[in-house]
Amino acid sequence: MRNNLSAWEVNENHFPSFGSIKDKFKFFVRYAILAPSGHNTQPWLFEVSDETLNLYADRTRALPVIDPDDRELIISCGAALSNLLIAMKYFGFEPEVKFFPSDGDNDLLASITVKSRDYEPSDIDRIIFNAIKKRRTNRLPFAEEKIDGLTQQKLKTTVSEEKAIKFTIIESEEQREAIIKLIEQGDKIQSQNKSFCRELAQWVHPNRTSSKDGIPGYAFGMGDLISYGSPFFIGNLNWGDIQAGRDRNLVKGSPVLAVLESKTNKPVDWIRTGMALSKLLLRSSVEGIAASYLNQPIEEQGLDDKLRDILKTSDVPQLIMRLGYGKEVKPTPRRDVDDVVKLK
Ligand SMILES: Cc1cc2nc3c(=O)[nH]c(=O)nc-3n(C[C@H](O)[C@H](O)[C@H](O)COP(=O)(O)O)c2cc1C
Repeated sequence: MRNNLSAWEVNENHFPSFGSIKDKFKFFVRYAILAPSGHNTQPWLFEVSDETLNLYADRTRALPVIDPDDRELIISCGAALSNLLIAMKYFGFEPEVKFFPSDGDNDLLASITVKSRDYEPSDIDRIIFNAIKKRRTNRLPFAEEKIDGLTQQKLKTTVSEEKAIKFTIIESEEQREAIIKLIEQGDKIQSQNKSFCRELAQWVHPNRTSSKDGIPGYAFGMGDLISYGSPFFIGNLNWGDIQAGRDRNLVKGSPVLAVLESKTNKPVDWIRTGMALSKLLLRSSVEGIAASYLNQPIEEQGLDDKLRDILKTSDVPQLIMRLGYGKEVKPTPRRDVDDVVKLK
């Protein structure tokens, strides 16, 4: 496996049973960093001491154009936090989490301590943990096969474990079509925004990249040759119409279109959205279901209000997802655990 994919080779048999608590915390972080993140920026840092593991937002990895408030950045950190907690439980550590524990530091998102060391993981804890290494964002078309009601219910129940986060499956054809139209508009607006294109081009890499972050072309279904030109195409060509058409077909062909929503729109809601996202994706992966994102209507001011009208909700849409049965796709790069952990 290429060096920038080696994080995915983490092996539970290497858990440092006889190591210090710092060694153990650091091992849990190996699972946290496999979480999804916007543009694969991996905007997280972990500070490990003898009692506490602190999760920080790394705002040097922000995406100021697409995500000016760091909303998606914090959702990404929430997903990493959820992976971390799932790993802790799997290895028998019951976690206790305090969100934003320091009034003066809004980069410190969460402090995690160990409540007990004799947690007995349930069957579902184990199954979800095992999905961490298998989860991928899948941007390819999905099969026509429907997701049955029972499986949909399992996904809803999983999300409902996260306080105040809602998973709304779009059932009506009319609503679906209206959301597709917003996604198309979002594609066109974003493609015409030079700053957006420049920002995206910085994070999309050729397939054979040695970069430990960002998105290799293969994750968009590009072949090796095309992938070399992808940063240039994104930065210089008007790709809005092509992307809009592609997204229309992708959504039309996806058995489920869904929205993750929060009650309010504060940083703690963003963390909880990320935690719900991680659980949703892992549970989906257990069921053999793939997922990807179409967040354009939430990212573009003006379209977000229209989305709320379509959904007839006073809640706050945070992520738009499509789900279905897809072909296997490759993992994307990750930074090394040593790049994101500071020992105190
Ligand atoms: C908050 C958030 C927003 C995302 N938004 C999009 C998106 O709009 N379009 C997209 O294709 N992928 C999106 N992604 C997926 C990331 O690009 C993906 O997680 C990252 O490239 C790492 O790849 P992996 O998920 O396969 O590990 C998003 C992920 C997160 C966590």
